[in-house]
Amino acid sequence: MRDNCGCTRCRHPATLERILDPLSVPSDLDAASASITDAGALQVVWQPEDHVSDYESDWLRAHRGGTHARSQRDPAPVTWGAELSEAMPGADHEAVTGDDSTLLHWLRLLRDTGVAVLRGTPREPLSVLALAALIGPARATNFGEHFDVVSKPEPNSNAYTALGLLCHTDLPNWERPPDYQLLHCLENEAKGGDSILVDGFRAAAALRRREPAAYRLLTQRPIDFRFQDRESDIRFRAPTIALDETGAVKEVRFNFAVMDAISAPAERIGPLCRALRAFAAVVRDPTLECHYRLSPGELLIFDNRRVLHGRAAFDPSTGRRHLQGCYVDRDQLLSRIRVLERQAPPQ
Ligand code: OGA
Ligand code: ZN
Ligand code: ZN
Repeated sequence: MRDNCGCTRCRHPATLERILDPLSVPSDLDAASASITDAGALQVVWQPEDHVSDYESDWLRAHRGGTHARSQRDPAPVTWGAELSEAMPGADHEAVTGDDSTLLHWLRLLRDTGVAVLRGTPREPLSVLALAALIGPARATNFGEHFDVVSKPEPNSNAYTALGLLCHTDLPNWERPPDYQLLHCLENEAKGGDSILVDGFRAAAALRRREPAAYRLLTQRPIDFRFQDRESDIRFRAPTIALDETGAVKEVRFNFAVMDAISAPAERIGPLCRALRAFAAVVRDPTLECHYRLSPGELLIFDNRRVLHGRAAFDPSTGRRHLQGCYVDRDQLLSRIRVLERQAPPQ
């Protein structure tokens, strides 16, 4: 409580950042007296410092503590399965850009379900970056600030072919994979190419239920990932399923296309491969798969640390298919929600 004194000697009135030197506070600190001010704040006099601190009741209530550790994901995620195919959460671009409360509603949907579409967006090249700016600046990767998902002659990723893509998370070979992925549909005339989405949290829960030993292995043992092309060679090892300090799943990394050979003691490799195979089978369970066909002018956005995405193969001889993509950070999304909530009551 002493560290959280809000007086101008402890916190800079303009930056709102702390300026108190923690070692200037005596280690034998005592709340010598406490009273309620006329404004209804709790006033504490700290001795032997003789320092006076006021605490608002809202602040005290928000920080009263509890018996349980807080999960990284707060509020708790709303998980989903195949039923989302018929009920994709979404909003209209015009409504979201014209009205802050609609924008807030859409951003909360994205935070809680991990997936949302925006309909009626401009069908112009690079508008994906302007759409990202509804949340924050794009996070650049080795694929650039934005990327074009088209079938190209010398592809450096399976995404840039006409092949089907098994459900995966992007860039698990990075220490910090991008949090949210945006895919903006400019053209989708080709036969095939429908999108597939799987809630990785739902899939992890299903694996835990069906094959608890496989689940445990995937939370503990790191998998090696590697991407390489002419310009880059990016590698990272991390478990498939990462838990937070409460034991809740906080992240899924799954991408067979950029999995490297596993470096682990020989006797661990067989069990790990079998556990990965069990998870791959769960991810392909039709009751977990959401199927969605993107139409030109639609933006699909999803939590890449949670939701796996894939696509059916398409036939480029039957028409063009062109998506433009980019990534944004979760910090930006959550910040945007909190700032919008300053005008609107929390949920
Ligand atoms: C990607 C990807 C899916 C698609 O670009 O990362 O997986 O629908 N694309 O083309
Ligand atoms: Zn103070
Ligand atoms: Zn992808």
